[in-house]
Amino acid sequence: MKAFIAGGRGRVGSPLADNLEAKGVEVVAGGLDDGIDVISGEGLAEALVGVDTIVNVLNTPRFDAEGAISFFEGAINNLTAEGERAGVRHHIVLSIVGVGEGDASDIGYYLGKVAQEKAVRSASIPATIIRATQFQSYIPALIDQHTVEGKVLAPRSFIQPVELGEVVELLAGAVTTLEPGSVVEIAGPERFYHDDLFRATLADRGDDREVVTVAGQGPLDAMVPRGAYRTGTVRYPIAGIPTA
Ligand SMILES: NC(=O)c1ccc[n+]([C@@H]2O[C@H](COP(=O)([O-])OP(=O)(O)OC[C@H]3O[C@@H](n4cnc5c(N)ncnc54)[C@H](OP(=O)(O)O)[C@@H]3O)[C@@H](O)[C@H]2O)c1
Repeated sequence: MKAFIAGGRGRVGSPLADNLEAKGVEVVAGGLDDGIDVISGEGLAEALVGVDTIVNVLNTPRFDAEGAISFFEGAINNLTAEGERAGVRHHIVLSIVGVGEGDASDIGYYLGKVAQEKAVRSASIPATIIRATQFQSYIPALIDQHTVEGKVLAPRSFIQPVELGEVVELLAGAVTTLEPGSVVEIAGPERFYHDDLFRATLADRGDDREVVTVAGQGPLDAMVPRGAYRTGTVRYPIAGIPTA
């Protein structure tokens, strides 16, 4: 079996490449530095020769709707066109729990992920969508994104962070065993409120930024699974945070 990991040098893609190789899967994991650009199409045909499965763990720094939509949708279209020519049979996309429900925050990046899911669902290569909650290791970066003029604005809504390795294992399992067509969600074992989680994380890091609780956009459970989901077993690395 041969897999192409689009975004294969990234936070998710890199450990996924190692995991798949350890399972005996032949992996092509190049990105921009290797001359593979999924947006311009450069190097894509060569990268996809003999590939059975594409795992799409691409990311963009664009947080505006126009930039995020054009990146995520454009990548699906190019991967589908070249993948079809190469005989790819399965396209697995990593998305985010909650973004497709229609009542999550309408920040541009999430609209890009919704467009990504929609594009891959209607594409000609059979698709699987894996939706993960926020990675535990990503919480400090998420706090930075919520910081305005030195204060952290944290909604009193649910967050259920998952350990990255458990997401990687789920993606790898989708490559080796899953029939295309599923939507699978994964979340960590504990559900918190954003503000409690942010305060505890900052205190643990000796960061004295003030956390201000703000009204969340949308329902309390907008960004946690609402139906069946895989529950990770790795707890958040800071003990004693009140659960929601
Ligand atoms: N962070 C979270 O908590 C979380 C939770 C759930 C889901 N996700 C999803 O997980 C996915 C992966 O996130 P990540 O943190 O692993 O991202 P990342 O570390 O930023 O990696 C993204 C990869 O995309 C590659 N890339 C960007 N533009 C490209 C292009 N035009 N052509 C080829 N490759 C390109 C980059 O390649 P170069 O290295 O060559 O630039 C990089 O290797 C994202 O779609 C995100 O929405 C994240």
